[in-house]
Amino acid sequence: MILSACGIKKTYLASTPVDVLKGVNLEVPKASAIAIMGKSGSGKSTLLHILGTLEKPCSGTLTISGVSTATYPLPILRNRHIGFVFQSCHLLDDTTVLENVLMPAKIARTATHVGSPAHHRALYLLEAVGLKERAHFLAKNLSGGEKQRAAIARALCNDPELILADEPSGNLDHAHSLVIHQLLIDLTKKKGKSLIVVTHDEELAALCDAIYVLKSGILSLSSHNFSATD
Ligand SMILES: Nc1ncnc2c1ncn2[C@@H]1O[C@H](COP(=O)(O)OP(=O)(O)OP(=O)(O)O)[C@@H](O)[C@H]1O
Ligand SMILES: [Mg+2]
Repeated sequence: MILSACGIKKTYLASTPVDVLKGVNLEVPKASAIAIMGKSGSGKSTLLHILGTLEKPCSGTLTISGVSTATYPLPILRNRHIGFVFQSCHLLDDTTVLENVLMPAKIARTATHVGSPAHHRALYLLEAVGLKERAHFLAKNLSGGEKQRAAIARALCNDPELILADEPSGNLDHAHSLVIHQLLIDLTKKKGKSLIVVTHDEELAALCDAIYVLKSGILSLSSHNFSATD
């Protein structure tokens, strides 16, 4: 398993406490794609943030790449193993698209100069998401859908084994959605990566190996095509 979550609970202590997650269990086999669906406000983003170690659960355990997140220095684990596509893109506005895509490599202290492997990869990823011509634009000058695609390229910069994507095609038209869906699914099928994607998009969910639904704080398997040996 690339990721195992057991008994994840999360309560937000607002004016009235909100029990968002009430004991979520999830096992993600290597090289598989998992879709998480559910109504707005059901806790999908909260769960994804917890699975990506950006937020702490109130209780429960999480193991990523065989390492317990209770013991590992989390920033290193995140930067090396996980690529994030957030629901809001979180690009650095006054920085170029290319620099944004290279940010995970910079955080990992990998060389990013012109001609470096990371620089080549960033340009390749920008081409893959259809933004080659926008590489030197400032991020703030991109359209909403372009920002989303730049964020996807950034998530793949360090070639992570686990990709967490929150509504990756939420801002995109159908044609661009198809390109992004295929790119994400190909990563699992051809490159052996694992994907956990929160989506309302039935077409994307149908391309995944399993579909889970988050409802009333509990995650349930809705359909899957894992083989018995997974
Ligand atoms: N920091 C916070 N403090 C208090 N409540 C919060 C906080 N973050 C999220 N919530 C609440 O937790 C619930 C789940 O939020 P979350 O963003 O995980 O939902 P979601 O399933 O991703 O929704 P959407 O499909 O609209 O993106 C919501 O009711 C939200 O108001
Ligand atoms: Mg959300």
